[in-house]
Order: sequence, then structure tokens, then C-alpha cells
Amino acid sequence: MKTSWNLKDRKAFVTGGSKGIGKATVIEFLELEADVLFSARNEDEIQNLEKELKKEFPNSFIKGIKADVTSKADRQKAFNWIESNFQKLDILVNNAGINIRKSALEYNEEEYRKILEINLIAPFEVSRILYPLLQKSQNASVVNVGSVAGSQDVNSGLPYAMSKGGINQQTRSFAVEWAEDNIRVNTVSPWYTKTPLTEAVFENKEKLERILLRTPLGRIAKAAEMASVIAFLAMDKSSYLTGQNITVDGGMSVSVF
Ligand SMILES: NC(=O)c1ccc[n+]([C@@H]2O[C@H](COP(=O)([O-])OP(=O)(O)OC[C@H]3O[C@@H](n4cnc5c(N)ncnc54)[C@H](OP(=O)(O)O)[C@@H]3O)[C@@H](O)[C@H]2O)c1
Repeated sequence: MKTSWNLKDRKAFVTGGSKGIGKATVIEFLELEADVLFSARNEDEIQNLEKELKKEFPNSFIKGIKADVTSKADRQKAFNWIESNFQKLDILVNNAGINIRKSALEYNEEEYRKILEINLIAPFEVSRILYPLLQKSQNASVVNVGSVAGSQDVNSGLPYAMSKGGINQQTRSFAVEWAEDNIRVNTVSPWYTKTPLTEAVFENKEKLERILLRTPLGRIAKAAEMASVIAFLAMDKSSYLTGQNITVDGGMSVSVF
């Protein structure tokens, strides 16, 4: 098998690709010459990004579709699109995620179920429905976007932590079940990264100062710094790496200060 530091002709699907880490991943993949489909819920944002990227990458294939990862019909729509246009899937990035931050007793049932539905159950269902197309690749990589909140308490809400802890084990178990199909499955776990999801967190200057003090590299990550790790896991250069959780945290988890 010829391996190289690019994603030339690899067919990729990124959920939640219109903003933040997902958008940075779509751009990284296009720079590495993959053919990319991304999904999100906001139609205008999808159209605008697709247009912008078509201009920026005139020789690459880029397409956005409106599909909610929690909708069975939308997951089927994504499957149908990929089957008709790509015929197979080499790379799946389960990135779409949300958070609602409050203390455990304050959540109502609808709120915590929504977090678990988007962050934990949807990646399970998206991975399962796309399995036949990943199998067809004979050399596929699934990257789940977790969080440091899945391995330790970072005061970002208990349901979010549960969902990301669950993703870590979902990754390990899929990695073992699907190894015989040469489908690798890994998690990338970011610490605080500048995206629309965390805008409100950083507006709280006291909180921002505490985050920076807890981070040996002394700064918030850029979305592109998550995308490059996702891309490494997506390419053949990581061909013996599966079932792992790569923590991308500026040293936070190895420091007690
Ligand atoms: N930013 C951080 O500091 C940080 C840290 C740790 C982990 N993470 C994880 O990284 C991932 C991306 O986070 P982010 O910060 O980039 O978030 P973001 O800026 O809010 O972007 C989230 C993306 O997901 C899409 N999305 C949300 N719900 C969806 C659904 N039900 N179906 C389809 N698409 C959906 C959004 O578009 P629409 O709203 O149009 O659907 C958007 O494209 C998440 O899994 C998050 O938990 C982020």
C-alpha cells in the first residue's frame, strides 16, 4: 500500500462542517486533496460555505447538505447521497456536537437528552448506517470528535461529560468490531478551542483567565489545530493506529497547576 501525507482522491464526510472544528476539518481535507461532503442544519450557512470553498478550491470536490444527525430520514439522505456520488466512504468525521452548560440538578429531561442524542447516539447511528460504504473502502478511517470532558471533569456540564465519555468507549468498541474490515476508529479530544460553540465561555474574562492558567501552552487552540490531528488520523500515515483517544489540549491534562 502506497502511503503519503495527503488525502488525494479520498472520499470524506464531515458532520457539523459549517462552523468551528468541522469547518476547519473540511478546509484541511480540501488542502490535502480529498473529495468532501459536509452536513449541518442551517441551509444558508451551508450554501455560503460551499460557494466560498468552491471559489477557494476550484480543483477540488466540495458539497454541503442540510442533514440533522439526529434525524433518521436525514441520515438516510446522507447515505443515499454518498452511495450515489462517492460509491464508498473512506473517511467519516463525527464532529457535530452541542453543549448546554449548567449544574446537574438544573437540567430538564429535554435538555440532557438532546445533548446525549446529538453527541453520543447520533455518531453511533451515523457510523452504523454508513458502515457498508466504509466497508467498501477497504481502508477507511472514522474520527470521532470527543472532548477532554470525556476523561476528566472540566466543569462543562455533566450530560456533555457523559456524552463524551461514551464516545471514548464507542470508539474503542467500534475499532475492535470493525478492525476485520480495515476500518480504523479513533477519537480526537480537544480542550478549549476558538469556535462559535465557545464564544460565550471566553466572554467571561475570569473564566478565560482560569482556562489559560490551566493550559501550559498558555493559549486557546485554533480550530485548525484540531483539524490537522483529525487529518493525520484520516490518512494512511496513521494506518496502525486504532481505538485511541488523542488528547489535543496544550498540555492541560498532564499538568496539575
Ligand atoms: N470548541 C471547543 O472548545 C471544543 C472543545 C472540546 C470538544 N469540542 C467538540 O468539537 C465538536 C465541534 O465543536 P465546535 O466548537 O466546532 O462547535 P460549533 O462551532 O458550534 O459547530 C458545530 C457544528 O455542528 C453543526 N451541528 C450542530 N448540531 C447538529 C446536528 N444535530 N446535525 C448536524 N449538524 C449539527 C453546526 O451547524 P448547525 O447548527 O447549522 O447544525 C456546526 O456546523 C463538538 O463535538 C464539540 O463537542 C469542541
